[in-house]
Amino acid sequence: MKVLVLGPGAREHALSLALSRDPAVTQLTCAPGNAGTVEVAEARPVNTLDPDAVAALAAGFDLVVIGPEGPLVAGVADAVRAVGVPVFGPSGEAAQLEGSKTFAKEIMAAAGVPTAASDTCTSADQAVAVLTARTPPYVVKADGLAAGKGVLVTRDLLEAENFARDALATVGSQVVIEEYTDGPEVSLFVLTDGTTAVPLLPAQDHKRLLDGDEGPNTGGMGAYAPVSWLPAGTVDTVMATVVQPVIDEMRRRGTPFRGLLYAGLFLSSRGPSVCEFNCRFGDPETQVVLPLLETPLAGLLLACANGTLADQEPLVWSSGAAVTVVVAAEGYPADPVSGDAVVVGELPEGVSVLHAGTRLEDGVVVTSGGRVLSVTATGRSLVEARTRAYEGVAAVTIRGGFSRSDIAAKAVRGEISVPKQED
Ligand code: GLY
Repeated sequence: MKVLVLGPGAREHALSLALSRDPAVTQLTCAPGNAGTVEVAEARPVNTLDPDAVAALAAGFDLVVIGPEGPLVAGVADAVRAVGVPVFGPSGEAAQLEGSKTFAKEIMAAAGVPTAASDTCTSADQAVAVLTARTPPYVVKADGLAAGKGVLVTRDLLEAENFARDALATVGSQVVIEEYTDGPEVSLFVLTDGTTAVPLLPAQDHKRLLDGDEGPNTGGMGAYAPVSWLPAGTVDTVMATVVQPVIDEMRRRGTPFRGLLYAGLFLSSRGPSVCEFNCRFGDPETQVVLPLLETPLAGLLLACANGTLADQEPLVWSSGAAVTVVVAAEGYPADPVSGDAVVVGELPEGVSVLHAGTRLEDGVVVTSGGRVLSVTATGRSLVEARTRAYEGVAAVTIRGGFSRSDIAAKAVRGEISVPKQED
């Protein structure tokens, strides 16, 4: 099988690595890829946001796997499907589940899916009025793609108002203001062909920049899987109350969702509640979910593209754990510095370094984005995987580079619990 992975980041590096381990894959290309993906996949330059350019590149491949949300929302999957190449990734219309918070809320309302009550505001004055009428913590969401930085949770009314103003000016013409939901967050990835849905292992992301979940939201500073503190039966509950109703509603509307539905969930005192949907594999969670998947990946993704997911065997998972720690460039997320050398020393057993914001300059790997590397480790336990991941981080040298020191720490210490459910 000839497979083209589209995208430039650590998620695409993780996808490429997993696909390169699949004996069915005879040719692997990652476009544009980065300085790490070239180790396992041929690189091809392409503007990932240009549907016609990607469709032209896709000719001759047996499967195209689209990584980031930008191309999906731009309709790249539609263009590839239109030239007859199977594609893993939803149509532009279905990708609106991520592209528009308002659309996602409308689908959830129609499908009876639990999520926080919200108001959509189209002006700063309206947002200020809605915020003033609420009590803290305030939750404000930009209504458009914002690279994981489109959500603010704060007790500070002025900060919430300013965030709403800024989002209206820079991201989209609406903001969504939500009721606050308690409980820890978990990411559940679901493979779907538009009818059948198969969950992957849940993972937990660390979205804030700094230790102790302080600082601004980022694209994600680290993740781990599996999520040992998740109460038994949670995945089944989420599949029945969230995922299947949304997939059925999308199909009913004539815009079936095919690809990866990412449910960002709060495990709240009122049960699982949707924080957000994304229309693609999450980053950095993919870096910890895929190393634990023993079922070959290409056949699964092709089955989603071809509508044959129901025919697949149940997934097989390794019994261990995985942890990834993001190494970010100086200045991330506001103003990351580019062009610094990335030096990776000897890595311990079970550790791999997945590239995100890197490029080759005269044969030297240098930084070219905010999140530079995802240092990923597997182990027999979460403790072992975490120890190895931080040994791997210690082997990385980037001037001004930094990472959080507490990825997976609370889970290892057993400090995460789900609030008792209200009756
Ligand atoms: N982990 C957050 C995201 O992928 O959007």
